[in-house]
Amino acid sequence: MTGAGVSAESGIPTFRDAMEGLWARFDPMQLATPEAFAANPELVTRWYDHRRMMCAACDPNPAHETLTHMQRVFTSSGCRFTLITQNVDRLHQRAGSDPVIELHGSLFMWRCTGCGRSTEQTGVAFETYPPTCEACGGCLRPGVVWFHEMLPEEAIGAAQQAAGACDVFLSIGTSSMVYPAAGLVGAAHTRGARTAEINRDETPISGSVDWHLRGAAGRILPALAESLSDSPKDF
Ligand code: OAD
Repeated sequence: MTGAGVSAESGIPTFRDAMEGLWARFDPMQLATPEAFAANPELVTRWYDHRRMMCAACDPNPAHETLTHMQRVFTSSGCRFTLITQNVDRLHQRAGSDPVIELHGSLFMWRCTGCGRSTEQTGVAFETYPPTCEACGGCLRPGVVWFHEMLPEEAIGAAQQAAGACDVFLSIGTSSMVYPAAGLVGAAHTRGARTAEINRDETPISGSVDWHLRGAAGRILPALAESLSDSPKDF
């Protein structure tokens, strides 16, 4: 399972570092809620569209590419490899990973708050904020999961199922502070899986995983993948 740290080396600020320039005076925790959207849909959609454009201009890095490679090697060797992400930037998909479980949705899907229609938004920035639905004229909101909202049932169900059945669980570039995603490593551990964390810093799970590999995901993951090039089953 990955978090924002995996995309840091692509130039995408992590969620808790996200406020720069014009946005420096805002707290992301205050913008990522349904209450914030209800109070100021223009501000919230402007911020998410700014993030969408920023992510679209970035490229996958060696951490994304290695996970794509690992997924292919494991799958072609008859092993299951489930890639779960909390990221909304689509960089795993752009690196070629498929399937990817997006626990927190995507910056590139927007949903009408009026008629519920979801549309993919991969083009230029919106012209007005909040953007409006072509079908009914309602307000569009980003297709991400906000604080105080439920995760998509299918995504969290698949993630829990994989975590509860795996032999190895890697927690990569996540602060492990946001639940239920942060609980998946514990579910894997309870089931008897070996667990590892790859992170630049200490997190609340660092003391309870089997291995804590400290450093940049874009450096550690390629080194780790080399060790399993011939036999993923020994991993
Ligand atoms: P965070 O921004 O909370 O944490 C990023 C983690 O990545 C931190 O622990 C960093 O130390 C680590 N990190 C930074 N650069 C790294 C690198 N190059 N290599 C390895 N690790 C690195 O991001 P998430 O844990 O993804 O949710 O945040 C989880 C959720 O919290 C997000 O999906 C978002 C946020 O609230 C919602 O919006 C619902």
